[in-house]
Amino acid sequence: MQRLLTIKDFPASSLCFGTMQFGGKSSFYESKEIYQVCRNSGINFFDTAHVYNEGRSEEFLGSVCRSERENIIIATKAAYDCPATKKNILTSFDESRKRLKSDFVDILYMHRWDKHVPLEETLTGLAELKQQGLIRYIGVSNYSAWQTMKAQAICHNLNISIDVIQPMYSLVKRQAEVEILPMALSEKISVCPYSPLGGGLLTGKYHQGDTGRLTEDQRYKQRYSLEWMHNTASNLSLLATTYNVSPSTLAIAWVSNNKSISAPIISASSLKQLSPSISALNYQMPSELYKEITDLSVSPSPATDRLEEI
Ligand SMILES: NC(=O)c1ccc[n+]([C@@H]2O[C@H](COP(=O)([O-])OP(=O)(O)OC[C@H]3O[C@@H](n4cnc5c(N)ncnc54)[C@H](OP(=O)(O)O)[C@@H]3O)[C@@H](O)[C@H]2O)c1
Repeated sequence: MQRLLTIKDFPASSLCFGTMQFGGKSSFYESKEIYQVCRNSGINFFDTAHVYNEGRSEEFLGSVCRSERENIIIATKAAYDCPATKKNILTSFDESRKRLKSDFVDILYMHRWDKHVPLEETLTGLAELKQQGLIRYIGVSNYSAWQTMKAQAICHNLNISIDVIQPMYSLVKRQAEVEILPMALSEKISVCPYSPLGGGLLTGKYHQGDTGRLTEDQRYKQRYSLEWMHNTASNLSLLATTYNVSPSTLAIAWVSNNKSISAPIISASSLKQLSPSISALNYQMPSELYKEITDLSVSPSPATDRLEEI
């Protein structure tokens, strides 16, 4: 059973929509249409980042939600393409607020771990924003479990906390199950994982010869290059046919079904792609099917080596 993330005085929807394609593959007009379909389906939670499409993702999101800003939850991120210094965080956050046309942001994530900047400095910047009421929650993305807990210990002294994390997680990227998800459950940290479709692999389109991010972007091609991942995607499509449901719906519902997850971050580069992902909002997955899907992929090794005691 997933935990709802309550932000402001209302819960975030159990799916978040990621706007990484706004201002990239999606024009302003398409972005607006996608936003509206999300809203009509009950999604009130949107993810962006300072770095997406030179700021157009934040700008487009800020424009399309402007008339109802108080009814939606916005998460953005800082410090991907620059060191996570206090100065950079405050400068980039100020730009994000302008682009989003919003005085405050509901969640601000550190976009990735920065081994060169002391965590105390990074977190002091976030504490300042929180104390000024400019952000409601603090998040970290792409941190390992030890990095998150190290940050949490420093947060304690600053009277703030890491409230939410954004790891990668899907049927073909299950490393988070080993340390990150158990940590989040134990420490009551919300989890909004990205890439629940494995960047599109789990839609089944690549074994049909279709194109997309995995054929166009070298980083994604490499990230999903292992043969077993492609076999998992084909087998998920076969299973989906027997259940008469889209593989995308199954892949996202499978992520949601994990009890540590608050809201998977879905995405689409066109309106046509969106519908099977949105169907996961109301898809009730029987426990036998959850197990069948889990068995299609490779389980990560446990965190400790005494297998006889696990
Ligand atoms: N924190 C981070 O470092 C980080 C990293 C990545 C993403 N994110 C966030 O998470 C969000 C979701 O990540 P993601 O885009 O990687 O999620 P995903 O759900 O794994 O992949 C979405 C992509 O799959 C393809 N797709 C989706 N539905 C399809 C359909 N019905 N038919 C064919 N193709 C379909 C599209 O890619 P094509 O364009 O190839 O068709 C779409 O952009 C992003 O928008 C962003 O907000 C965060």
